[in-house]
Amino acid sequence: MEMQIRRFKESDIDCLIKILKLNDQYKYPTIDGPRAMRRVANCESAVSLVAEVEEQPCGFVRAVYDGSRALIHLLSIHPDYQNRGIGSALIDAVCAELFRRGAPTVSATITEQSVSFWEKKGFRRTPAFLVLKELRKTC
Ligand SMILES: CC(C)(COP(=O)(O)OP(=O)(O)OC[C@H]1O[C@@H](n2cnc3c(N)ncnc32)[C@H](O)[C@@H]1OP(=O)(O)O)[C@@H](O)C(=O)NCCC(=O)NCCS
Repeated sequence: MEMQIRRFKESDIDCLIKILKLNDQYKYPTIDGPRAMRRVANCESAVSLVAEVEEQPCGFVRAVYDGSRALIHLLSIHPDYQNRGIGSALIDAVCAELFRRGAPTVSATITEQSVSFWEKKGFRRTPAFLVLKELRKTC
């Protein structure tokens, strides 16, 4: 299986949303939907990489580095392509790009079920965890 990692393109959007849905990671379309993906593509602080096999996207990773902290906040591999090293290769690629941009560390937003994947990639638990608030005009 020949896999390539490249930058996100707008034409990836439908495939990537399908992957998120298959992995039950599409709970917040305002955060992860097509319009958000286009905004991320235009954001200089963001890193969006896609893995493809035979020119078909099979996984992707999204991260951001703001000059202080780097955060990987989305990683999703198509179920048919999991356990073939693609998630691992995407993490290596995004870490290399964040390091190239000057990030001294990288954190990740993860799920309990995938902890051992992240530990194998050299991440360790911290006491911090994620909270979320939906923003309205009154905030
Ligand atoms: C978790 C996920 C990103 C891993 O990507 P992947 O391409 O399947 O993983 P890899 O083949 O690169 O696996 C690397 C190692 O992690 C292990 N691993 C893979 N998926 C794992 C999981 N869900 N939990 C724990 N370990 C996992 C592999 O067995 C492998 O171990 P090894 O090096 O000892 O053989 C992918 O399975 C996925 O997208 N899952 C659904 C969505 C998800 O959970 N995303 C992460 C949320 S934070």
